[in-house]
Amino acid sequence: MTRVAVITGAGSGIGRALSLACARRGMAVVAADIEATALQQTLALLQALGAPCTGEVCDVGSEKQVQALADLSWSTYGRVDWLFNNAGVAVLGPVWEATTDDWSWVMGVNLMGVAHGVRAFVPRMLEAGAPAHVINTASAAGLATLAGSGVYCASKHAVVAMSECLQHDLRAVHAPIGVSVICPSLLPSRIDDSARNRPPQWAQAAATAPAYYERVRRGMEASTVTADDVAAMTLKAIERGGFYITPHDQTWTSVERRMRAIGEDHQHGRSGEDQHVER
Ligand SMILES: NC(=O)c1ccc[n+]([C@@H]2O[C@H](COP(=O)([O-])OP(=O)(O)OC[C@H]3O[C@@H](n4cnc5c(N)ncnc54)[C@H](O)[C@@H]3O)[C@@H](O)[C@H]2O)c1
Repeated sequence: MTRVAVITGAGSGIGRALSLACARRGMAVVAADIEATALQQTLALLQALGAPCTGEVCDVGSEKQVQALADLSWSTYGRVDWLFNNAGVAVLGPVWEATTDDWSWVMGVNLMGVAHGVRAFVPRMLEAGAPAHVINTASAAGLATLAGSGVYCASKHAVVAMSECLQHDLRAVHAPIGVSVICPSLLPSRIDDSARNRPPQWAQAAATAPAYYERVRRGMEASTVTADDVAAMTLKAIERGGFYITPHDQTWTSVERRMRAIGEDHQHGRSGEDQHVER
């Protein structure tokens, strides 16, 4: 029986790489994206590989559309083995400049998109009772923090926390469903041009902060890790039951620095020392 992968944000970057990697593993692919043309291009690549595939234009910020994606997946293939909640967008700039629309859009896609995916797919996976896996794309920005990324970091920390809780919940009911969270640092994709998919209802954006976008573009260009590398590491992690997928070497350094700062402040707080710590 052919196994089935459902991938959101499949029209570009990491989502397209995951779709092609699953197809090369012999899986059928249900590809979803808000951008119809990009989705069609991914479907053409999947077809060229000879993979069974279908596609759906789907805004993951809409619970209804994600439920429709789940309906399509089960009505077409009768099963879902791997669900990739991958679609994501970014805004950059100082936190105090982020508008309510910035928050609504980014949280709606990055956080609620994952929540809608879990809500639409996991109950049916539980009902099927078969081994399955949910893979959420967070970011290294979900494990550490940096200037100019407050909205994005908040959304991605929430995805990491939700993924950890999902794993606890599934273990508590002895479900045969694994969870992984993908936490890459910068790599080449179209995430720096996320505004192309910004819906009109969240139009009021903070003034663009060119220096932050420039820094991100430089980081993306400098990356030695590609979307294909992330996809390959992710498939390996699913198969060995790995939870945190951190493709970039530098990620552990920033996580360790953050944890050390928490530990130091905890110790200072307990010892009653009044010490200003510069980081
Ligand atoms: N590229 C990076 O440096 C990087 C690093 C860490 C994490 N990520 C995360 O990886 C994931 C994929 O991003 P990417 O880098 O491949 O970017 P990308 O822009 O190349 O691809 C994202 C895809 O998501 C789609 N999308 C956007 N809004 C959507 C919505 N509301 N509903 C459905 N689809 C939507 C876009 O059309 C696009 O095809 C995101 O969650 C992103 O936050 C990216």
